[in-house]
Amino acid sequence: MRDSFGSRFGAIVAMAGSAVGLGNLWRFPYLVGENGGAAFIIVYILLSFLICLPIFISEFVIGRRSQKNAYAAFRDLSGGSEWRWIGLFTVIVPLIVLSYYSVIGGWSVEYLLKSLSFSFSDASRITMNTMFTDFVSSTWAPLATHTVFLLFTTLIVIVGIKDGIEKFSKVMMPLLFIIVVAIAIYSLMLPGASAGVDYLFRPDFSKIDAKACASALGQAFFSLSLGFGTIMTYASYVSKGDNIMTQSAATAISDLMFALIAGVAIMPAVFAFGIDPQAGPGLVFETLPYIFGQMPAGGLIAILFFAALLVAALTSSISMLEVAVAYLVEEKKFSRVWACITLFVICWIVGALCSLSFGPLSHIRINGGNLFDFFDSLSSNVLMTLGSLFTVLFVGWRLKRTDIYDEFTNGGTLSTNARIFGVLWFLIRYICPLAIISIFLVGIFG
Ligand code: ALA
Repeated sequence: MRDSFGSRFGAIVAMAGSAVGLGNLWRFPYLVGENGGAAFIIVYILLSFLICLPIFISEFVIGRRSQKNAYAAFRDLSGGSEWRWIGLFTVIVPLIVLSYYSVIGGWSVEYLLKSLSFSFSDASRITMNTMFTDFVSSTWAPLATHTVFLLFTTLIVIVGIKDGIEKFSKVMMPLLFIIVVAIAIYSLMLPGASAGVDYLFRPDFSKIDAKACASALGQAFFSLSLGFGTIMTYASYVSKGDNIMTQSAATAISDLMFALIAGVAIMPAVFAFGIDPQAGPGLVFETLPYIFGQMPAGGLIAILFFAALLVAALTSSISMLEVAVAYLVEEKKFSRVWACITLFVICWIVGALCSLSFGPLSHIRINGGNLFDFFDSLSSNVLMTLGSLFTVLFVGWRLKRTDIYDEFTNGGTLSTNARIFGVLWFLIRYICPLAIISIFLVGIFG
């Protein structure tokens, strides 16, 4: 029998776990920093709810209606048509994401170990910068931590949906929340923290141009795990009696809350210690350890922060692996264990290339960046965007309105869902595709 989530709470927490990840704690704060603070956050919130929530619901409908892996979902719901190749696309993309994601997951393993040995105490910013660069550009250490991270991911997925993914998320997500809130409160109490709060919450719309919008949308896709099969696959394990609207909204709201709290945890500290908020991807691994080294009780905060980063990364990486595991088990008749081992090997190899692209393979350049940058920008700027576009086109133009209504309202029994369905349908059919296409084109040519 097909595995499924054991409870409604378990399903929500697992989906929130998939959404909340490095995207919230690592990517969101530096994008806010690079794009001018609060105005970016406002655009991000608007896009999250107007564009991304309907896409999220579309993925939810596809997954729960079919109760199949992503490939079979597209195939069966479209009566065996060519749409199945889009299904296959959404099975392959999370493997690409997981490969490089696991490299950063590995960095958080390394930084957790470093914080456990109190390596940040009193170190200067130069030392932190060198520590990070030396680590990522070396050959073996990042490969080892990439392996450890991917191994953890694989082991949790091997155990299954209810006993592995759901149990892990149920224990870890509340813990993650407590840790991030505790760090945010601490950060707010630092002298000089108010400049960081101002930066986050005072909007400066002159900074918002088409590129910033494209980057906000790309971040929202990444953060909500959209366009790469994960939500669809998790939704296929959700019970028919659950409410798609409340579960989707709960996930989107938790994801946004985590991103904002992460911003509040990081930015006040960044300002309190006079750091440039536009430090880019290095913010979390170069700047924060320096700040932790200066703070009272910073050693403990560093341990908590990197533990949180690791947990957040794991609850997301397991959802990416599950997409292809479900495909191999259901379509290619692999045992769950063999599916996991096979995918481990594939992701390990691709991830290893990404990891080495900071060191021995750094001479390989694509579009001016290394292999890691290439995979990161290809995934969030192109592949997830295309996956999301295909998903709304499939739901809005290929499937029947009555079937979507039926799934969204649980056969007409959920009256609130029935009332808002018209608006949702309009967003899915017209607004989402148009918005995705225009922002995508602006991102590329703008
Ligand atoms: N949604 C996941 C994250 O934000 C991929 O890290």
